[in-house]
Amino acid sequence: MLKDHNCGELTKADTGSTVTLAGWVDRRRDHGGLIFIDLRDRSGVVQLVYNPETNAAAHAVADGFRGEYVIRITGEVAARPKETENPKLATGYIEIIAAETEILNASLTPPFYINKEVEVDESVRLRYRYLDLRRRPMLEKMTLRYKMVKIIRDFLDLRGFLEIETPILIKSTPEGARDYLVPSRVQPGKFFALPQSPQQIKQMLMVAGVEKYFQIARCFRDEDLRADRQPEFTQFDLEMSFVEEADILSLCEELLTKVTRELRPDAQMVTPFTRLSYAEAMARYGSDKPDLRFGLEIADVGDIAGRSEFNVFKQALDAGGVVKGILAPGCADYTRGQQDALRDIARTYGAGGIVTFGLGEPGSDLADLTMDTVRSQVSRFFTVALVREMAARLGAAAGDLILLVADRDEVANTALGALRLEVASRLKLADPNLFHYAFVVDFPLLFKDAASGNYHPMHHPFTAPRPGDEALLDSDPLKAGGRHYDIVCNGYEIAGGSIRIHDAAMQRRVFQLLGYGDADIDARFGPLLEAFTYGAPPHGGLAAGIDRMAMILSDAETIREVIAFPKTQSAVDLTLDAPSAVSPEQLRELHLNLTQIEPD
Ligand code: AMO
Repeated sequence: MLKDHNCGELTKADTGSTVTLAGWVDRRRDHGGLIFIDLRDRSGVVQLVYNPETNAAAHAVADGFRGEYVIRITGEVAARPKETENPKLATGYIEIIAAETEILNASLTPPFYINKEVEVDESVRLRYRYLDLRRRPMLEKMTLRYKMVKIIRDFLDLRGFLEIETPILIKSTPEGARDYLVPSRVQPGKFFALPQSPQQIKQMLMVAGVEKYFQIARCFRDEDLRADRQPEFTQFDLEMSFVEEADILSLCEELLTKVTRELRPDAQMVTPFTRLSYAEAMARYGSDKPDLRFGLEIADVGDIAGRSEFNVFKQALDAGGVVKGILAPGCADYTRGQQDALRDIARTYGAGGIVTFGLGEPGSDLADLTMDTVRSQVSRFFTVALVREMAARLGAAAGDLILLVADRDEVANTALGALRLEVASRLKLADPNLFHYAFVVDFPLLFKDAASGNYHPMHHPFTAPRPGDEALLDSDPLKAGGRHYDIVCNGYEIAGGSIRIHDAAMQRRVFQLLGYGDADIDARFGPLLEAFTYGAPPHGGLAAGIDRMAMILSDAETIREVIAFPKTQSAVDLTLDAPSAVSPEQLRELHLNLTQIEPD
């Protein structure tokens, strides 16, 4: 190699030895004729000294060094003079006295500092991602991600799993997003789809007798992007034969505990993992991926609110709706503006508005509360006894603010769930050092799309109905439970899976319920259905988002921070400038003729 040591690994023990190093100029300082260079490579930084009196030639070369130049040096490791020691640096007790040096490559002045943690516009970072990744915090995230995948591989290897690669050019497999399509040159007019997940193929691997499969699998979904979603992302994908829910979940609990403890030894975890039914998660937290690091649970106060004179509440209850609420601790004195911001959030989730009750002064006694000390836009419709009763239901103290939503149950839950997160974020209630994992279980198999009236799978169409609920598919499909489970952590869904259907007739029945005709079922899913007729074992599995896990474990704000070359929110790769137009020849080879159709 062009170097025999790494910069960050040299210590006092190396004093007196001659080393050759190569890396980037992190910082240059000139002092009374001496040139000091901080030389950086992946391992860290070490100080180089160029003295014109002892080595004029090397000093002359170093005089040409600028930030981010790639250089090489041979020199002797020397103890630093006492007064220049830097105990903050691993290499802070030594320096390299240059004997020979050369420039391996020059560098333009980078568009942002590599050696300082300063805020840089994300589009600039993405355009120059190779420079962004050169920065220490990004290197640390890439390292954490690598270690996470290695722990997963080693863990599953010990338990007899086979890692098997599955194809990227496949046929559409529905996971609820749009497909990325690839035109075929050899089969004119036909397209491959990139996998939204390896779902059908991993099920075929079970039919193949693999029994325990896993893969670090790339997935592609053309869907609206968010902070925790990318069009191209990575799953840790797993499938096992002869298992039930508990087998998969206890394996995952052990794995996630190991990953978290090894990568974040400083952090707290709640073990065993919390277990919530879907209905409970929605009712208590207004979300199927609740952040359990804080309370602020939703409470039903319909029986109390219905006894007030406030007509809006009565009407909502009469129409079969609910009145539910949460607390904002210590927020009784929220201004109009602060409350309006909360109202706007509730509205984006479909609620008509919120009703608030500010409960007196902090430190006072709730028993002393009077309607004069309650701040509410509807106080004239309430007695103090009703307000106290609501406060007790929500576990409120004086100085707290009650937020109520009256609406259909679903709307009230999701609006309050969003308010709960907002209040917790304003009050900084979530402990950043706690990883609160939970299993969400007992999902319904299907839900009905309000707009189209069609049934959709809660997870995907391959999920088995709960044993005993098969007949409900004919009589009352929405009542049928699904053998689906999710794993959530700190407000994110990190994994989802299920016990699958392994019977061809049952699988066809579910497709029919979802509105597919028989010909369509055969065209889309014929191969899987056929596979099920050749001795398909009972099986199930799960997939976890590697990017999401890395994001959570490295406290990153977005998933893009833990992906080396991510896409922007508008699904563009700024580093390579993709997608881009292709040549007319390429289109011709693919038998394609482009006619732009205006988006709807
Ligand atoms: P699901 O669709 O729930 O299940 O995906 C599993 C996990 O993958 C991650 N994930 C994503 N991460 C980043 N960007 C995205 N666009 C994205 N979409 C999903 C999430 C999610 O929990 N085949 C099934 C799994 C199974 O049943 O075995 C599946 O893909 O962390």
